[in-house]
Amino acid sequence: MEKTFSGRVIELVLGDITHQRVDAIVNAANSTLLGGGGVDGAIHRAGGPAVLEECRAIRAERGECPTGEAVLTGGGGLPARYVIHAVGPVWRGGDQAEAELLASCYRNSLRIAAELALQTVAFPSISTGIYGYPVSLAASTALGAVASFLTTETVAPTRVSFVLFDPVTFATYAGALDAL
Ligand code: APR
Repeated sequence: MEKTFSGRVIELVLGDITHQRVDAIVNAANSTLLGGGGVDGAIHRAGGPAVLEECRAIRAERGECPTGEAVLTGGGGLPARYVIHAVGPVWRGGDQAEAELLASCYRNSLRIAAELALQTVAFPSISTGIYGYPVSLAASTALGAVASFLTTETVAPTRVSFVLFDPVTFATYAGALDAL
């Protein structure tokens, strides 16, 4: 499923983000940048030690990555050239600026991609796993943030994929994309 915004495509894919042959995949990281479970674990397993080494170097230089922000590393053993590690908000009921922090994860990741003139970027469903963010709320916030970036920015990727790991999450994003 896909939709075009100012000539740039948002597409939904049911699959594993570590298999995506794109310029950059986005990782749902934590602020330590030292790996974890979920998609973070899968990306570090597939990317190998080179990715973690770059994360350690960034952390040594800049400290932890604040929620809502993102950093760039190479892709290591992944088919993707780069990994953008974004730190999503933990869901705390919805009155701790979670929606704004989630939107800035997507915006800041796309800014990094635009600075490198990357054409294809793949996102997982950030924060909707271990961080407990309700998928329907996350889907509309994430898609809205990406659509507005593609519509308003002069430099942006031509194709942004959301790679969803299960059919229920896929269907929820499909409904949210339809409603955009
Ligand atoms: N490809 C695509 N999506 C995946 C993959 C994969 N290989 N593995 C998991 N997912 C999906 C999950 O099913 C969920 O829909 O990614 C989404 C985000 O879930 P998490 O990986 O749990 O990420 P998040 O909820 O943002 O929690 C981040 O979890 O792994 C730790 O270090 C990470 O502390 C951080 C926290």
